[in-house]
Amino acid sequence: MPKTTTTFVCRECGGESLRWAGQCPHCRAWNTLEEFTVKPAAAGRRGAPATAQPNRPVPITEVEVDDEPRLRLAWDEINRVLGGGFVKGSLVLVGGEPGVGKSTLLMHAALQVSARHGAVLYASAEESARQVRMRASRLGALSPQLLMLAENDVDVVIQAIEQARPALAVVDSIQTVYDPAVDSAPGSVTQVREATGRLMRTAKESGVPVVLVGHVTKEGAIAGPRVLEHMVDTVLYLEGERRLDFRILRSTKNRFGATDEIGIFAMGEEGLREVEDPSAVLLAEMSRAATGTAVVPVLEGTRPLLVEIQSLLSKNDGPMLRRTANGFDLNRVHMLLAVIENRGSINLSQKDVFINVAGGIRVTETAADLGLALSIASNHRNLPLPEGTIAIGELGLAGEVRRVSQLERRLSEAARRGFTRAIIPRGATGAAGPLRTLEVRDLAEAISAAFPAHIGSGVAS
Ligand code: TYD
Ligand code: MG
Repeated sequence: MPKTTTTFVCRECGGESLRWAGQCPHCRAWNTLEEFTVKPAAAGRRGAPATAQPNRPVPITEVEVDDEPRLRLAWDEINRVLGGGFVKGSLVLVGGEPGVGKSTLLMHAALQVSARHGAVLYASAEESARQVRMRASRLGALSPQLLMLAENDVDVVIQAIEQARPALAVVDSIQTVYDPAVDSAPGSVTQVREATGRLMRTAKESGVPVVLVGHVTKEGAIAGPRVLEHMVDTVLYLEGERRLDFRILRSTKNRFGATDEIGIFAMGEEGLREVEDPSAVLLAEMSRAATGTAVVPVLEGTRPLLVEIQSLLSKNDGPMLRRTANGFDLNRVHMLLAVIENRGSINLSQKDVFINVAGGIRVTETAADLGLALSIASNHRNLPLPEGTIAIGELGLAGEVRRVSQLERRLSEAARRGFTRAIIPRGATGAAGPLRTLEVRDLAEAISAAFPAHIGSGVAS
């Protein structure tokens, strides 16, 4: 009889060790090793099928490829993030905080795939079949092509995939399914790793694309961890603040497409809907030309997006100054505030600074630096930026305004939305169309270009 094997697996990096140690020998993290026991496979349940041929090398020209390897969905907001649709036999991880809308999004995806490509298996280890049905009917699209399986035994899920051969299978969630052969609780790193590995093999062998839902911890990692991200083909994150309507689907890894693409959705009474023109929605709420706000065209993947950056300065004579940022990296904010004080001659030493990006959007691009600086300058002067103005540019430590990628796209998005003036880095001439561009060398020039009436003549070129 085969023996039970025991190893230790690191919760952080997934590295294996034969002996327990306080520190992982692979990634040096402390107290992360977990015991991992694999019992011998029950007869007939595991292992290669008896009919399997031994694997042999073949000329690459003879490798079979599918004519239509992608399953497109009705929503291009999802297609774009996937790189064109689900790839057959791929394993996709959709992560996000509890309650953000992962199950809802995947139900929409399941219904769309089933309408176009055939039956979809929705395996729910988290909710009962009734709960899932209630959600599906709320989305207004119950379909007999959607096969429900309320199950947390991964063996049963795999068997169902192999027998039903659906066009797509969803496993909600990877932290709640378990492999009975693994002697460890559902959600533990060993269970998550083992179940993912088995579902990966099932996806590759059957050609059925499998989507795993993964919960994210407060720190932003998928609970039972990066191991999972290494194993899957595609990692998508669904983000958004629960009290706001916007949900953003972002790809951080994709073996079949570009990363950093985003899809935008809005949550409503009847589930999610895709938002094809987010700039319009984001700006609709904008009070025109308010003090302390600046509009910046950022690029998320291939898509330009007009976001509104807001700031507020508030007097504080105490020793502890507050700097908070919503939707902006706080380290970047600290750096920019230093540049604004030193190169823009704005004294912030007795000011609390609050930064917010409207609509729950998270800005990761340095091209938004200048917009943030001008929003603070606007507060400092207590004057709004002139109506119809946008700002684009990265700020260096010397206060210089640096060029950014794809200026033309950003300008044309702004022009499309009715903006008329753009403050841009010097020498970065793009075809501006109907926009009037003001080229600036540094922050001081940008501030005088933005507030010409106040300062005297602008530095506009
Ligand atoms: P859910 O998809 O269950 O989140 P997750 O799977 O990521 O945990 O959805 C969570 C929230 O979405 C829930 O608080 C209710 C809300 N919601 C709506 O507002 N409208 C809807 O039509 C649905 C289905 C959910
Ligand atoms: Mg859920």
